[in-house]
Amino acid sequence: MSKKEHVPTIVVESSEIYGSVSLYGAKNAVLVSIASLILTTGKSVLKNVPFSTDVYHMIELIKELGARVVWDSDAHELYVDTTDLNKYRVSDHIMKQMRASILVMGPLLAQFGKADVALPGGCVLGARPINYHLNAFRAMGVSVDQEGAFLRSHAPSLQGSRIIFEYPSVGATENVLMAAVLANGETSIVNAALEPEVLDLVALLRKMGARIAVEPGVITVEGVKALNPIEHEVVPDRLEAGALLIAAAITGGSITLSNARAHHMDAFLEKLRSMGHRVIVSEKGLMLKATKSPQAVSFKTGPYPGFPTDLQAPLMAAQCVAQGQSVIEETVFENRLVHVHELRKMGAQINLDGNRASIIGVDELFGADVIASDIRASCALVLAGLVSQGKTIISGVQHWRRGYDALEKKLHQCGANICVKGEPNVVQTLGLIESTRQL
Ligand code: EPU
Repeated sequence: MSKKEHVPTIVVESSEIYGSVSLYGAKNAVLVSIASLILTTGKSVLKNVPFSTDVYHMIELIKELGARVVWDSDAHELYVDTTDLNKYRVSDHIMKQMRASILVMGPLLAQFGKADVALPGGCVLGARPINYHLNAFRAMGVSVDQEGAFLRSHAPSLQGSRIIFEYPSVGATENVLMAAVLANGETSIVNAALEPEVLDLVALLRKMGARIAVEPGVITVEGVKALNPIEHEVVPDRLEAGALLIAAAITGGSITLSNARAHHMDAFLEKLRSMGHRVIVSEKGLMLKATKSPQAVSFKTGPYPGFPTDLQAPLMAAQCVAQGQSVIEETVFENRLVHVHELRKMGAQINLDGNRASIIGVDELFGADVIASDIRASCALVLAGLVSQGKTIISGVQHWRRGYDALEKKLHQCGANICVKGEPNVVQTLGLIESTRQL
């Protein structure tokens, strides 16, 4: 067997998508929800949790800190007992797995007055500094010492403060929120991110007993002495929803998402409507009926309620086969157009100028060997594969696994010609079954 045959791939062929699907909870909401449990002592339950490798790594992290975790794979529920959680140092190898590990810094400081974490570093999307997080913590009385790539931080007591963000960073807002809930006095986060995943964290923290007020652009927190364990159903994933809606749109099919929250996706749904697709919100859920002659639309990513950067690549795939010309501008991350090169291999006509992609829709794409460079790029390539002649073979499957829970199965149930090849059993590979059995 050649070396290449050992590389897992997603194989996609032209398909039509028709069906009805229920969404898992949002991966990005789950990650911060798990981190927030550091603030409590006792047993909590998170519901509708997707099984993705990022979620797995966050489970490993909280276990390393001393929590006991049980994963119920049938119910998609996560049981977390923080009674014995007593460590505040995250090992280097776990930090390196996932940038979102930085989200434990706020709750560790709030709970222990200390947090030792490695610097998460950049990633394929760009430099991704954490200056907003660190400046805010310093304003709350935290000393942060950097030793090489390691951060040692401590605060004898966290002080409420007025934090003004230059940019509404999702992670920095979440981190400061989780520090502020147990700080002394009031914290205001001005120019706070208000993504649905941030508001899901607010809802969860309120269940714990936190005192939080949300106004346009400002979140105000009144610190309390202690917080309680909770039961929480994670907000449905608007990014999984986006992938499924585009799958139906791009193939001329239709789909219903039973538990989607349409009001979390306004900017995105408006673009689908402008393309000519019918988007219907009813008690049955969110439904899309595709037009057979989609029109190209332009868009620019931005903080919520703007167009989400995480749906930029997936919707670009749809522009590649729409009628007319579109311009897509990425403003959130400095380097999030790598998928353009791969889409071009499939016959897409895209001109790249910095962070702007100009696309002329073509009648058809062609299957090719392509490489997924990040989670959402993997999704874009799968979507493009659904309208390509011949086989699209996508490597970089680990990115697909980081962000979605078996989305290929949901697509397959709706008619997609898709399978994942050459992949060892994911659950066994991650060791999750073994580790949860012990618990
Ligand atoms: N930024 C700074 N300094 C900071 C923090 C952020 O300059 O201290 C910059 C970033 O470099 C970036 C911009 O601000 O250019 C936005 O970053 P933000 O902090 O808002 O993003 P994040 O918290 O790192 C989360 C999601 C991302 C999603 C973004 C934007 C999680 C775990 N990740 O990242 O999700 O794209 O918000 O909505 O919640 C994905 O799921 O594929 C993904 C990348």
